[in-house]
Amino acid sequence: MAFYLGLDLGTSGLKALLIDEEQKIIASAHAELHVSRPHQSWSEQQPQDWIKAAEAAITRLKAEHGTALSNVRGIGLSGQMHGAVLLDEQDQVLRPAILWNDTRSHTQAAQLDSDPQFRALTGNIVFPGFTAPKLLWVKDNEPEIFARIKKILLPKDYLRLWLTGEHVSEMSDASGTSWLDVAQRKWSADLLAATELDESQMPRLVEGTDVSGTLRAELCQQWGMASNVAVAGGAGDNAASACGIGTVKAGQAFASLGTSGVLFAANDSFLPRPDSAVHAFCHALPQTWHQMGVILSATDALNWYSTITGHEAAALTQELGDDLLAPSGVTFLPYLSGERTPHNDSLIRGSFTGLSHSDNRVALTQAVLEGVAFAFRDNLEALAKAGTQLESVMAIGGGSRSAYWLKALATALNMPVHLPADGDFGAAFGAARLGLIAAEKADALAICTAPQIIKTIEPDQKLHAAYEAAYQRYTALYQALKP
Ligand code: XUL
Repeated sequence: MAFYLGLDLGTSGLKALLIDEEQKIIASAHAELHVSRPHQSWSEQQPQDWIKAAEAAITRLKAEHGTALSNVRGIGLSGQMHGAVLLDEQDQVLRPAILWNDTRSHTQAAQLDSDPQFRALTGNIVFPGFTAPKLLWVKDNEPEIFARIKKILLPKDYLRLWLTGEHVSEMSDASGTSWLDVAQRKWSADLLAATELDESQMPRLVEGTDVSGTLRAELCQQWGMASNVAVAGGAGDNAASACGIGTVKAGQAFASLGTSGVLFAANDSFLPRPDSAVHAFCHALPQTWHQMGVILSATDALNWYSTITGHEAAALTQELGDDLLAPSGVTFLPYLSGERTPHNDSLIRGSFTGLSHSDNRVALTQAVLEGVAFAFRDNLEALAKAGTQLESVMAIGGGSRSAYWLKALATALNMPVHLPADGDFGAAFGAARLGLIAAEKADALAICTAPQIIKTIEPDQKLHAAYEAAYQRYTALYQALKP
């Protein structure tokens, strides 16, 4: 029997997941990662820690599933997007990686975004979290480092360098750099020149379903694998999740309640609409694109509230009970680290308004869940503006374990929310599928199917009007606070 390994390099941890040729999950292992925030709005990690995490997770798989691991034929990579790993001539890391949720370069982002060729060629706003403005920040603030940059890699592509010895990226992750001509699926020499870089500093590009290289002999030996293990192009974490949950054809969509929140739609053509603040990126499958709205704090907002109250997130949501409640009049804006879609505002911050004496911890938990659900509604409106009307979404991510949150989401979006059957259909599974496709030259659409739906949560029609009124308060509040 052949096996495939998915590696998902997240922000808070790395997950290694092993599947067999029937796509059955055999095992998974997780290794934690920590974010360093040395200054306000900074967010960094040491690339070396990603390798240590991958080694730890794979070593654990080897201890418990050594035979399966030794029969791995393909590896797929997924990872947190947009981060900048800067390498010198010897592939030595020049400084800690600057991550997707680091907004120090918002001035540089605005500067690049005001150059019309960026939106024209990438189809996207140059958001502060994207890679190009980070490089401009390094040029402005650490010129001696900028001068030594030989290669710039995205986080998961640094893992690939360790796995294969090759500098390679793929279309979906490269779309989030602001250097990719997203329609043509190639680096743009003009956009690179605008940040005083050139193509020699970029990795070679492949499609997510292509073989990007083979596993280095030393690692094959260490993990007991054969010598021709294919490493697939893989995907950025959102496109990888889409491969895992079967969101690969136009009309399919998912809502991910993770640290950040993502409303993701697959497209069969490139549909840019930068002024909506919707991301229009290449998908992991050839000749496929996707759109997504990204909110920066989804479960992150609940986790923040959990820290404030000293109560576990799960305990907080349980306190709400099972039945959806009418919004209480307390409004929460989840902009704890600014917002991407639809505001592109790195300076706005979160808020609670409308507090009364009678509002307790439970009322505020309710407001937090509603606030995140309304942020998803804002993304639904943004996708509609960008030409994509959704009819239903599949829910994934840690937050989808809360039945209350799913009801709030369905009611805020006014559409059915499908819950996949118990299983692990996230980015690591999508990455493992890409490993299988690349290694076996398999039909990507036949592999990236949707899981069985265990439950469909319908919007609560009794609360429709109350939710609409609360959503209007929510959107008005941002406009009022923005100045
Ligand atoms: C997408 C984005 C986040 C990260 C999280 O544009 O910034 O979803 O990929 O890992």
